Amino acid sequence: MADTVTGPRPEVPDFPMERSARCPFDPPPGLRKLQEEGPLAKVRLWDGTEPWLVTRYAEQRAILGDARVSADTDQPGYPPKAGSDGSEGKLGFIMMDDPEHARLRRMVTAPFAIKKIEAMRPAVQKIVDDLIDGLLAGPNPVDLVEAFALPVPSLVICELLGVPYEDHELFQENTKTMVRSTATPEERGAATREMAGYLAGQITKRLAEPQDDLLSSIAGRVPTGELTHRQATEMALLLLIAGHETTANMVALGTAALLQHPDQLALLRETDDPKLVASAVEELLRYLHITHLGRRRAVTEDIEIGGQVIKAGEGVIMVNEIGNRDPEVFADPDRLDITRDARRHVAFGFGIHQCLGQPLARMELQVVYSTLYKRIPTLKLACALEDVKFKNDAFIYGVHELPVAW
Ligand code: HEM
Repeated sequence: MADTVTGPRPEVPDFPMERSARCPFDPPPGLRKLQEEGPLAKVRLWDGTEPWLVTRYAEQRAILGDARVSADTDQPGYPPKAGSDGSEGKLGFIMMDDPEHARLRRMVTAPFAIKKIEAMRPAVQKIVDDLIDGLLAGPNPVDLVEAFALPVPSLVICELLGVPYEDHELFQENTKTMVRSTATPEERGAATREMAGYLAGQITKRLAEPQDDLLSSIAGRVPTGELTHRQATEMALLLLIAGHETTANMVALGTAALLQHPDQLALLRETDDPKLVASAVEELLRYLHITHLGRRRAVTEDIEIGGQVIKAGEGVIMVNEIGNRDPEVFADPDRLDITRDARRHVAFGFGIHQCLGQPLARMELQVVYSTLYKRIPTLKLACALEDVKFKNDAFIYGVHELPVAW
């Protein structure tokens, strides 16, 4: 039987919560405590509002699969992220509801079909191999984030969209600024505008001269009236933003975590079994869960769940990082074990907004994890773990820098 929560508690905890400095790969201890107490609890956000926090796996999936919740940031009760000016809320279909969300998402599902993604594997392998050649020929120690983790997804998205080779550098420079934590909001805004301008130009070019790439397929929806030119640009920008920092953080944070678990790293380095590599990717996605600010939704009709009624107009946050550590679903959840079957994790969300790019993200991570540690078997941290700066304050969890040596 689900536990019940008896209304807002006298002491409503703040969210987000702090991680323990000693366990940077584990969710904040405060989340674990809330999960033990019950499936839902009220929390207080930076702006004083008090949405519901959903901590258990079953309830998280139930709400994410419920049509009575909205991903639209303009809906009353939507829990705003600190530091957000609301403008990212209007970026494409990730923050829209059906039927418009489904109409737009359908236009870009075909390129993410497993077969299409598998066809990209040799190109991704080459990107990864070339970057490792560069690492081995360059300075040692080096920051793995800058030299490897960020360029991999940037170049892969160039490949996916069909960005011409001569523009790769401009594309990489701007995407780097867009996600660099030390960039000022002005610098980040300027880089995003430059990228949007660049992608708008590419859409215009593809309208005149279509090619066999994703940008052309998005552009092809403009003359038919399915998309405005602006919507086509936003869609390309959404794919870029959604796929870049997420994958980069999984590469760098995944490496940091594996270096702290040498037995697991050795298993991965020594295997030629693609099934074990795939299993390692799922387990690292579960264990690290980088989208740590939760799936945020506004409730549009009363929902009864976990003995509570969440009222229309209230906000709800599914904090999947602790859902992925729910002992009801994953035995010994705080143990990193690349041999376990972790495929039920919610690192890609759940429901209609479940990550569109997951086949690509999986394939990229499989290529990286099966190549990097084999080609650089002596890879190690070039500083103490305590000196690694973790992205506690960022929208996506990871490391600001990862100094490595070999
Ligand atoms: C390890 C890497 C990644 C992680 C952990 C990740 C995680 C997520 C999560 C949790 C969501 C759900 C958001 C929500 O429900 O509010 C999501 C949605 C999305 N992701 Fe990813 N993602 C990754 C990589 C990618 C890549 C490579 C792409 C594409 C190039 C991509 C494109 C998208 C898009 C378009 C959506 C919105 C889907 C929708 O609203 O229907 N993601 N992602």
